[in-house]
Amino acid sequence: MKKSILIFIISLLFSCNSSQDFITSPDSKIKLNIYKKNGSLFYSIEKNNKMIVNKSILGILLKNNLDFSKDIKINKISKSKNYSSWSPMYGEESIIKNEYNEILVSLLKDELQASVIFRVFNDGVAFKYIIPNQDNILSYDIIDEKTEFNLSPDDKAWWIPAFSYRRYEFLHAFSSVDSISKKYFSENVEDISYDSLGIGAAHTPFTLKKKNGFYVSIHEANLINYSSMTLAPRGNGSLQAELYPWSDGTKVKLESEIISPWRTIQIADNSSDLLLSNMILNLNDDPEEGSDFSWVKPGKYMGVWWEMIGTNESTWWPSSNHGANNKKVTKYIDFASEHGFDGLLVEGWNEGWHPGWCCSGNGNPFSFTKTQKDFNLPYLSEYALVKGTRLVGHHETGGQIQNYENQLDEAFSLYQKHGIKFIKTGYVNDVGKNIKRIDENGETVFEWHHGQYMVNHMQRVIEKAAEYEISIIKHEPIKDTGLRRKYPNFISREGAKGQEFNGFSSNGVNHITILPFTRMLSGPMDYTPGIFKLNNFRYVSPDNTVIDKNAIVPSTITKELALYVVLYSPMQMAADLPDHYLAHPKAFEFIKDVPVDWSERKIIDSEIGSHLIIARKDKYSENWYVGGITNENEKIISFDFSFLDENKNYKLDLFSDSLNTHWKDNPMEYEISNEEIDSNSKLELRMAPGGGFAMEISLQD
Ligand code: NOJ
Repeated sequence: MKKSILIFIISLLFSCNSSQDFITSPDSKIKLNIYKKNGSLFYSIEKNNKMIVNKSILGILLKNNLDFSKDIKINKISKSKNYSSWSPMYGEESIIKNEYNEILVSLLKDELQASVIFRVFNDGVAFKYIIPNQDNILSYDIIDEKTEFNLSPDDKAWWIPAFSYRRYEFLHAFSSVDSISKKYFSENVEDISYDSLGIGAAHTPFTLKKKNGFYVSIHEANLINYSSMTLAPRGNGSLQAELYPWSDGTKVKLESEIISPWRTIQIADNSSDLLLSNMILNLNDDPEEGSDFSWVKPGKYMGVWWEMIGTNESTWWPSSNHGANNKKVTKYIDFASEHGFDGLLVEGWNEGWHPGWCCSGNGNPFSFTKTQKDFNLPYLSEYALVKGTRLVGHHETGGQIQNYENQLDEAFSLYQKHGIKFIKTGYVNDVGKNIKRIDENGETVFEWHHGQYMVNHMQRVIEKAAEYEISIIKHEPIKDTGLRRKYPNFISREGAKGQEFNGFSSNGVNHITILPFTRMLSGPMDYTPGIFKLNNFRYVSPDNTVIDKNAIVPSTITKELALYVVLYSPMQMAADLPDHYLAHPKAFEFIKDVPVDWSERKIIDSEIGSHLIIARKDKYSENWYVGGITNENEKIISFDFSFLDENKNYKLDLFSDSLNTHWKDNPMEYEISNEEIDSNSKLELRMAPGGGFAMEISLQD
């Protein structure tokens, strides 16, 4: 819903060798400077007169040595502005303001045309390159993107390594920009020194705490038919865009005009404001005219899943402990339906699973239509429908793209026939550059997980899924760049170390206090919260029911509840086993009640890596939910309810850690209290080490 659009254009002609222009954000606090000097184009960004990005070069190098970072002239500069708002189908807010000032810089390199469009929002700056179709460009293949982000050597960043074997599934390093390297990561976070392929670079979102106090996140928006951008250090605080190459070294292969994704620099005065930025979504498009996504519905699901990845009592593959069997799935359906869940994920239902599935060279070729013997798809899907819920499908591709694409139509149509509305997809294929492709000459080549080949594959899957009215929850994805605005069926993704790593290894207790400020700035995450049995839960192996005492989920039950509010996802999982929920019926009620679609959010307090408290308002009622999480340290907070409507009465249901709760040795103790509150109420709250709290605040008649 557009509210108002106001556009004006000024055209100026530049002829001199050196020129300069600027625009500011609508609130005038951010200033973007544009310079042309000695045939190159540069930009810099300031906020409140303090430097955010120092003078940095722009440009793209095409095949045939056509270098748009050199020998260019500015042909024309046009300025415009846009003040509008829109309503997402689902989201964290029901109305999103889209307000920016824009500058379009048209360039000439001899007679060849290119342009850079910059938008300056109150929450940051974005720009993208356009090289239109023209007779004298023989190839639009991109050999290199020259974009720089010149920061200060004193700026520190939370980052994960790119060009590494485990996609985005790493803990974060926190270090100076210049130290980004596999060596630094290996010495300080996790040994990846054997990952010898590829350069030292960081993935985006790349979150910085600047020496001058600002919080900044560099990322990209609207990544379509291009390759993912990483950031490589060039010394003295400088980062350069490094695009994942194809196996032949070309960065991006294009048949015609270039429209790059937006390069985004979100800027905030503090960590909380960073979470309120809508820039990434604002830089994406609405669904195409005439398309209908009204069938996409947010929801909550359970799964025959934690049994495999967490408690280790079942297998994906055929065995006496096979998880996806008719009897077990029927019981899960009964439970999910009795407790009002929209879906039940079942993994390991199809043919192709075997104990070595995850790590077999260049990927495991699964069938997406043939079921294992003990799984009756028509019966179980019908049983679920009769019970008022649905199966959630699962397509683990093993990173075998061609094998998956060959079966896409059949696989989606099979699921559609059985009333399945959501599919969780997966791309486990360790070693980053291991995606098999048969090239134009019939040769087998191996592509990076994050290159243009995979970006385009993911696009095909989303578009194909939409034809079958299926929404996708993608694991091992390409990072989110806001595509859910144009393709609402791209409902959620993993794309970071999620809860599952606490099942088979450990994320440590502090990771979750960093995720919202890094990975989650890009979009919703299928983190899979809600583990209630936090210790003594894991068998040594499905055949050995001795409990692995070392396995713990480094959390508390209150924190697990808080995650439903803290970590936004329109398709949220209750990941634990039915019996573990039955042991905590009231806490389970919270998971059943908590919404997945919101109209408002308030960040009550935060610091990256320390704590985060968020209040969200349900889109369909006057009720609020609050989640608070802390790192390994206890936190005492004075909480006030001034975000509530004045002169109204509410009932508070509070789940808080007990005095003895501790993530390490006493994670499952908590207290439940109820009281009447209003906007003047105040509360002293304690979060235990590694703990949190959750609130349900219901308006009273
Ligand atoms: C990795 C996914 O992240 C996980 O959720 C899934 O269970 C396994 N792959 C198997 O597909």
